[in-house]
Amino acid sequence: MSTVTIENITRIFEASLSPDMNPRAREVLIHLVRHLHAFAREVHLTHEDWLVGIDYLTRAARLTDDKRNEFILISDVLGLESLVDAISHDARGSETESAVLGPFYREGAPKYGRDETISQRGAQDGASVRIQGRVMDGDGRPVPEATLDVWETGPEGLYEQQDPEQPDMNLRGVFSVDSRGTYVLRAVKPVSYPIPYDGPTGDLLKVMGRHPYRPAHIHMIVRAPGYKALVSQIYDREDPYIESDSVYSVKGSLLIDFERAPEGSDVEFLVRHDVILKRTEAA
Ligand code: BEZ
Ligand code: FE
Repeated sequence: MSTVTIENITRIFEASLSPDMNPRAREVLIHLVRHLHAFAREVHLTHEDWLVGIDYLTRAARLTDDKRNEFILISDVLGLESLVDAISHDARGSETESAVLGPFYREGAPKYGRDETISQRGAQDGASVRIQGRVMDGDGRPVPEATLDVWETGPEGLYEQQDPEQPDMNLRGVFSVDSRGTYVLRAVKPVSYPIPYDGPTGDLLKVMGRHPYRPAHIHMIVRAPGYKALVSQIYDREDPYIESDSVYSVKGSLLIDFERAPEGSDVEFLVRHDVILKRTEAA
């Protein structure tokens, strides 16, 4: 029986794992624990430090429910969701860049027809914008079976599930492209908003000396059979938080211009955004 020491505990941990473990779980766990142990050794983690961490995670767990996931928020302000997104998307080809999903996506948004709006409250939801573009493959050919699942906050910077004033599924919708791969939808000009900061995520931001704001954006997931689903966002180029997104998700290629619509138009702003999808390996 060997005595556990600072030096040998990592090896002892690894040797204790069953050889019948799921290989991916084994790989992830071994690397995670190697880094955790190295971290504790490097910073000389004390019992008091460890208790602070446990208390922090316990508070995050108590705040987490089906409307709010504090663990996603913590991973976001540590840059982890953005890093995972970059690793899994790796857009070195011609396809449109991805952005983080965030914790506020909901499945089952209403389906809308061409040029319909995701705003259920009209002007109360903000300034109207028409967004149009094409969904293409890497060779510029239309992807006629594509759908765009879009969502954004209301003018108070809250998603509908955070805001009792908004109707269910407000500012969310799914649109289909036509046979030429083109889409037209109406939404509202997005606003910058703080991610929830009244709990452990906010405490962490304060400790780091950072603000909780995300620059104004509209989320989208673009799907089509035979193509990799694209989780992305478009950002208002003029937003003051473009350079300091609290969740590190802005990419230069996703900045867009909100152009004022001509006098007499039925919307206030116009936006153009084309999307390029990547084929799945099997296609
Ligand atoms: C969002 O853009 O919806 C979001 C992303 C990360 C954390 C919180 C919100
Ligand atoms: Fe968002």
